[in-house]
Amino acid sequence: MHAQWLFVGEAPGAEEDARGEPFVGQAGRLLDNMLAALDLARGRNVYIANVLKCRPPNNRTPTPLEAEACRPYLDRQITLLAPKVIVALGKSAATTLLNVDASIASLRGRVHHYCGVPLVVTYHPAYLLRNLPDKAKAWEDLLFARRALSA
Ligand code: URA
Repeated sequence: MHAQWLFVGEAPGAEEDARGEPFVGQAGRLLDNMLAALDLARGRNVYIANVLKCRPPNNRTPTPLEAEACRPYLDRQITLLAPKVIVALGKSAATTLLNVDASIASLRGRVHHYCGVPLVVTYHPAYLLRNLPDKAKAWEDLLFARRALSA
């Protein structure tokens, strides 16, 4: 399968781990709604993945070593999917993929690259559920990513 858009989150939650599918909980439903507003849908022109392929014990934040262990899997997914743009969801995914220690605020609004693919950073949907006013910023980020894709 090829996908123009690749969204990358941190790691599966408990529900995602059980179902073997990323972003199936409430955060995933918000993500799906935002995709629909751009006339996008997973499985059609979008693929959703995580940096980590299983949930770390007790739901803790993934360690750099764990991210490194899973990186060849993600890189292979990128080779096979050949996305035109990658959207990093949240600080953990963004800082891991870009290998920087920086805030989301400082990484947003710029085109970065990962594996030669343009990469745009936005907020994690679970964060947006707790901080509804930032949804407007995430929407700006998705419009920015769409422009990066067609540039
Ligand atoms: N959070 C993530 O980062 N990924 C998921 O798949 C679910 C929640």
